[in-house]
Amino acid sequence: MFETKMLSSDESSLNEAVKLLKSGEVVGIPTETVYGLGANALNEAAVRKIFAAKGRPADNPLIVHISDFEQIRPLVKEIPELAYKCADEFWPGPLTMIMQKSDIIPDVTSGGLDSVGIRMPSHKTARAIIDKCGFPIAAPSANLSGSPSPTTAGHVFNDMNGRIPAIVDGGYSAVGVESTVISFENDSIRILRPGFVSAEDLKGITKNVIIDKGVVAQLEKGSVALSPGMKYKHYAPKADITIIDGSLGAFRAYVSKNASEDTVCMVFSQNDCKDMNVGTICFGATDEEQAHMLFDTLRELDNIGAKKVFARCPRKSGVGLAVYNRLLRAAAFQVVTLK
Ligand code: TXA
Ligand code: MG
Repeated sequence: MFETKMLSSDESSLNEAVKLLKSGEVVGIPTETVYGLGANALNEAAVRKIFAAKGRPADNPLIVHISDFEQIRPLVKEIPELAYKCADEFWPGPLTMIMQKSDIIPDVTSGGLDSVGIRMPSHKTARAIIDKCGFPIAAPSANLSGSPSPTTAGHVFNDMNGRIPAIVDGGYSAVGVESTVISFENDSIRILRPGFVSAEDLKGITKNVIIDKGVVAQLEKGSVALSPGMKYKHYAPKADITIIDGSLGAFRAYVSKNASEDTVCMVFSQNDCKDMNVGTICFGATDEEQAHMLFDTLRELDNIGAKKVFARCPRKSGVGLAVYNRLLRAAAFQVVTLK
């Protein structure tokens, strides 16, 4: 097995990464949301290498990343009016917009769909790489399919060592959860995956914002996922996580009654389980802190060998909805609701 090369984000390292990308290779790249596995979005053979490195099902489409608004025009059939408004307000940033794809996007990139998700990241290094390449970059999150998304170059290395030639280290991803994915229907915006750009933020663009039912509910057998990624098992640490939805008092009472020796509590503050005989791991007090730390916390649970986890329930609005959506999947939808 070969060793994946760790590159810094200085000029000569970026040139090395760009050279690899230009020759049709896959490179781990930092973005403000999570790290991505990047390749030339218009090169079929390069994109196939992404699917192979990740172990990703072929029908799960990739997001195409650009660094300048003008780059979008050849990629899509038409830009909806609402998309211009969203781009003005939220790009560059953690928002992916789904539009009808043009013929230059290969079917492998779009997972066989006739639409494509486009995002303009704000991370300086990601933008410099796209600029230097001169082509759009397809990039899913840089984790092995099914494990938590990576928020550091080290996380990418753990999953991808020996599978890709290089990773560019751009520091800890500031946002920490993947982008908000939206589609447009007449005069409304549908949220397929919640992220840092919240439903409340999008209501500043149009009052008709729909949160797709797949965001907080498990897909029924046989129903079609509007966003194929939502039907796959996700973010799963080895531990068995249960979300405990209720006040701090109710959480503490539940833990006292149900915890065993090896239970770990995933809490907002170290004080939450003060004076209780359980292990704790803290994932932040605010929505933003929780988004920032969630995936790192899920990986840490595996590192400490946690088996049974009781997690406090994130807020279900604002950026909290994105955290809740990811934690629900990590918990395989096991929620205990307390009065
Ligand atoms: O923040 C992010 O979005 C990161 C960084 C690297 O940009 N990327 C990311 O990609 O999270 P990925 O592949 O892990 O998740 C993309 C999600 C999947 O759930 C996929 O099904 C959905 O977006 N998606 C992509 N293209 C789509 C399309 N044309 N229609 C519906 N859903 C789409
Ligand atoms: Mg992903």
